[in-house]
Amino acid sequence: MKKTALASAAASLLIASSSLYAEYPDQALVQQARQQAKAFAMDLKDTLMKGMKADGPEVAIRLCNEEAPEIAANHSKAGWDIGRTSLKIRNPDNAPDEWETKMLLDFAERQQAGEDLSTMEASLQDGDTFRYMKAIPVGGPCVICHGETLAEPVKEELARLYPDDKATGFALGDLRGAFTLTYTAE
Ligand code: HEC
Repeated sequence: MKKTALASAAASLLIASSSLYAEYPDQALVQQARQQAKAFAMDLKDTLMKGMKADGPEVAIRLCNEEAPEIAANHSKAGWDIGRTSLKIRNPDNAPDEWETKMLLDFAERQQAGEDLSTMEASLQDGDTFRYMKAIPVGGPCVICHGETLAEPVKEELARLYPDDKATGFALGDLRGAFTLTYTAE
């Protein structure tokens, strides 16, 4: 009797933990994704700041144009694919897919409800694929190239490189977009 009760308790525990596992992505992967997003963000920021300090925003735009996709590619290794996306994109290659669009809309809603953008994230386990997103708020230097009023040379350079640019009109603290990471076990 006792044995059966124990066995059934153990079985229900097992069922509970396996369904938990299916619902919630592996926390070790979430941790890795956070670190990867942070390292990618730091590399991007370094490049941007170097460009801005040395030559001003027009040259920084060109640097971003050439190096941002390359920095993303350099960080995409060992099963990880890393990039940025947004509901209002500058580079058409950064367009969000269905899940990303849904999560970006969710981030905006959560911000409206009072949640802090700077810690906002989402993750998903979809078969063999793990996905992670982290919100990107608009900070001080960002409005130089993504703000409501842009300097004339910045406007011209952006129009030349991104004739379809949707990534302006942002204010400090707005949701600019998100880091987006996918991991597929190799
Ligand atoms: C010197 C101008 C400049 C500044 C300043 C700047 N950006 Fe950008 N941003 C760009 C360019 C150019 C791209 C397109 C790069 C690419 O191809 O990924 C871009 C792309 C992005 C993207 C990818 C999505 C998209 O629209 O293609 C995000 C997210 C982004 N910027 C966020 C920021 C944030 C946050 C800041 C402030 C920390 C910032 N940017 C500051 C020029 C700038």
